Order: sequence, then structure tokens, then C-alpha cells
Amino acid sequence: MRKDLGAKTLMFPMMVLILGTYDEKGEPDAMNAAWGSIYDYNQVTVSLASHVTTDNIRKNKAFTISFGTRKTVKACDYVGLVSKAKEAKKIEKSGLHPVKSKHVNAPLFEELPVALECKLISLEGNMGEGGTLIGEIVNVSVDESVLTNGKIDMKKFEPIAFDPANNKYNVIGEEIADAFKVGLSLK
Ligand SMILES: Cc1cc2nc3c(=O)[nH]c(=O)nc-3n(C[C@H](O)[C@H](O)[C@H](O)COP(=O)(O)O)c2cc1C
Repeated sequence: MRKDLGAKTLMFPMMVLILGTYDEKGEPDAMNAAWGSIYDYNQVTVSLASHVTTDNIRKNKAFTISFGTRKTVKACDYVGLVSKAKEAKKIEKSGLHPVKSKHVNAPLFEELPVALECKLISLEGNMGEGGTLIGEIVNVSVDESVLTNGKIDMKKFEPIAFDPANNKYNVIGEEIADAFKVGLSLK
């Protein structure tokens, strides 16, 4: 028997994306955004409300998207709970260490091993009500610690997803089959 839960904002997984930006003084900020995904080839999209991050992206036309991990879950949650507008020491308190990206005017974070470096394509919508961010991925930056034979190793990376049904974070990573292959036997 199936049950109707009604019209809810549910998607599985919703990856924990940490948006890294600079303000006009070059001070770094980070925020948690679970409402985001791939939009097109080399393009990402995030549903953004009005935040310091949103202003920073409009000003610099650049941002990074790092993936939250098991080890950094506390910092990832913190940057989603506190705004730089209210806490000037947000980044120091988070324990994340910003490093300038070589490709875009936005920070990477030492503790977050996989990041997309992005240029703004569009940020449509009213500031107060938020908008839809679309960015071009110009580079993917990866810490060697999560690579095996040059490829991202999910067991080392341990990215986390936000579970919107239960307000929890879950680790992603158990491999169960080969994509584009496991279904071939049913053809
Ligand atoms: C799990 C989680 C997911 C979130 N997802 C989004 C999101 O997709 N879009 C958004 O605008 N805000 C989202 N937020 C809220 C922002 O991260 C939060 O308002 C943050 O403090 C903004 O920081 P800033 O003002 O320093 O930019 C999320 C927060 C949490 C904890």
C-alpha cells in the first residue's frame, strides 16, 4: 500500500553544497545550500534566497561549490545556520580555512576536498525573494587525499547529503553496481 505525503519539497539525495564567496573587501564567506544540482553540461544551479552570499555573487560574478563531507559536517551545518551579516567571525568560527581559487575570484576551503570553481551565468529573481543561480564550472579542484589512481574515490571523499524528510545529514558512498551496465542484461 502506498501513502500520499502531499506536495512536499523532497529530493534524494540533496547534496550539501558549500558556496564560497568574497565580499567587496575580499573577506570570505561560506553558506550551506542543499537546493542545488547540475543544470546543464558544465553548468550548476542553486536556488538562493537573499543572503550575504547572494550579494557577493552578484558583485564578483564568481563562486565555488564545495561538497560537504563526513569530517566537516559540523562546519557545514554551522555555515547554514549563521549569516556573515550577523557574525563577522563566521569563517574563523566554522574552522574552515579559505584559500583563493586560481581560476575565479572566490575562496576554496582547505578542509573541503572537492570543489567546483564557477563563474556566474545568471542570478534571476528579486533579491528579497531570492532567485535561481546558474553558474559555469570552469574548473574542478580536488585534494589529492581523496584520489585513487587519479579518480575521486567515494570511500575517501565521503560526501554528505541533506535528508529533507528527516532533517538529517547522511554519508553517500556505498557502491552497488556499474552505471550504464547493470541494466544491460534486461535489454
Ligand atoms: C541544510 C541547509 C540547507 C540550506 N539550503 C539553502 C539553499 O539551498 N538555499 C538558500 O538560499 N539557503 C539555504 N540554506 C540557508 C543558508 O545556508 C543560511 O541562511 C546562511 O546563514 C546564509 O549565510 P550568509 O548570509 O553568510 O551568506 C540552508 C541551510 C541549511 C542548514
